[in-house]
Order: sequence, then structure tokens, then C-alpha cells
Amino acid sequence: MKFIGSGKVKDVYDMEDGTLLFKFSDRVSAYDVKFHDPIPHKGEALTKFAEFWFEKLPVKNHFVKSVSKNEIIVKKMQMIPVECVVRGYFYGSLISRWNAGEIVIPEGSKTEIAAKLPKPIFDPTTKSEHDEPINKKIALERKLVTEDEYNFLESKSLEIYDTMYGIADAAGFILADLKLEFGKLDGVITLGDSIGPDEYRMWPKETYVVGKIQESYDKQILRDWLTANGYQKQFDDARKAGKEPIAPSIPPEIIQKMSSRYVDSYKLISGKTL
Ligand SMILES: Nc1ncnc2c1ncn2[C@@H]1O[C@H](COP(=O)(O)OP(=O)(O)OP(=O)(O)O)[C@@H](O)[C@H]1O
Ligand SMILES: [Mg+2]
Repeated sequence: MKFIGSGKVKDVYDMEDGTLLFKFSDRVSAYDVKFHDPIPHKGEALTKFAEFWFEKLPVKNHFVKSVSKNEIIVKKMQMIPVECVVRGYFYGSLISRWNAGEIVIPEGSKTEIAAKLPKPIFDPTTKSEHDEPINKKIALERKLVTEDEYNFLESKSLEIYDTMYGIADAAGFILADLKLEFGKLDGVITLGDSIGPDEYRMWPKETYVVGKIQESYDKQILRDWLTANGYQKQFDDARKAGKEPIAPSIPPEIIQKMSSRYVDSYKLISGKTL
């Protein structure tokens, strides 16, 4: 087994038998700052979510099995250098990009924050440190994928979003957007990476209102606390001064609240307990 690397949340190992081990940690980051306090059960919830979605979705995927409460085995693939984002709502970076005239949204779209788009859109990015929005023209020009591959990624991603939207809806949530990654396995485009709260925005239907920032089901708690206590500004100021922001320690009640949200959302969506 060979250590390959650590992302924000997971550590990846090569099992040297054509598979990879994903180890999901309890780490948390917000506003691009990594915090030192672990969020209990987070890794476990992400592991269970990955297992749940890969088993539920009717698409070829890389999932092999879970091997512990925070580790899964997947088939090693050659990853396609495009992050497949689907957006069903006018939210997040879509708003500023639309304001800047950088993206066209479907005819009849309401441009109020958190409004549902008349139909979901495929809005891919590059796969790099700072994901850069692209479109079909750019993806083909840069030879990231062939035209057939692009069309396949687009229709598959929209199809997966629809399926997940239905499951979330039945559990009382709105799936606002989603990020998927695909790779090639024996020449066939296959769903990879992970699927869980770090790959999508999900909002409780109960508190959903158009025209407002929505309550997200996990990290929003930390973001709100950071903003309310002036840390978001401190991070920005530090970056402007060319320094690395310093992560404060997170109060126990915030940690507890976040932990419960990961655990509870898994229960609600999967109908199973951790
Ligand atoms: N089946 C697979 N075979 C090979 N590589 C994979 C497979 N599934 C996912 N990957 C890749 O493994 C890497 C996992 O890294 P991870 O997501 O933990 O960190 P990251 O993408 O570098 O950073 P971030 O934490 O921001 O996501 C990604 O580059 C992903 O594309
Ligand atoms: Mg990643």
C-alpha cells in the first residue's frame, strides 16, 4: 500500500492491485482555511454517503466495497480532467458569473438568489487548484475530452442530478447543485471520486425561501460562526497581506452541531443509521 496524497478531507492510498483506498477523515475546512479540530463522525458519515450513493445510482461507478467505518476501496482509473458540475438553482458562483455576463442561463430563469432554474444546467470546470469554469467549446479546444465524451458527461451528469434530486426531495431536502468526477475504466467512462455533502449543496425544504441565502445542512454553521466573529475578515486581511490565515479553534457547541448535521442528514437521506 502506497500513500498517494491528502485532499481537504480524504487520504488516498494505492493498494497496488488496481484499486485505491479512500480514507475519510474528520477534518474540516471553510473559506479555504483548514481547522485543527476534528468533527466527530464526519469521516464515517462521508464513507456511508459514498457507499449509499454509489449503490443507489444506476450508473457504472468505481466503488468496490467499504472496508472499515471510514475507508472504501475503489477501482483505480485514469481520471477525466473535467469536474462535472450540475446546477439546479441560481446560487453561489453562478450569480456573480451571470452578473459579469460570463454564463448564459436558461430562458425564463428567475435571477433572484436561490430561485430554481427552469431546468438544471451542466456547468463544468477544469480540475485544478482553482477550478476554472469552462464550456463545451473550451473543453474541446483544450482537448480535455472529445465531443462524444463531453456529450456523454453532460447527459450522464444531468441524469444523476435528477435521480439524486428525487431521493433528496423524498427525504425533505433540495439538491441545489452537485459536483461529479468521472474516469475511464477499461475504456468506459465511469463515475468516480466521492459523493457526499462535500460534493453538493443540499437545503432543508422546511427553511427554503427564494431571495435569501439558504441554510445549508453542514458547513454553513461553521461559516456563520466565523463570519459573526470576524474571522472571515481576518482571513481575507491576512491573505491580502500575503500571509497564511490562522485557524481559530472551533467552540465545542459548534463542533457538536456540525457533527449532528452530518449524522442526521445521512439518516434522513438513506433511511439508515450510521
Ligand atoms: N477511481 C479513481 N482513480 C484514480 N483517481 C481517482 C479516482 N477517484 C478519484 N480520483 C482522484 O483522486 C483525487 C482525490 O483527491 P481528493 O479529492 O482527496 O483531494 P483533491 O481533489 O486534491 O482536493 P479536494 O480536497 O479539494 O477535493 C482526485 O484528484 C480525484 O480526481
Ligand atoms: Mg477532490
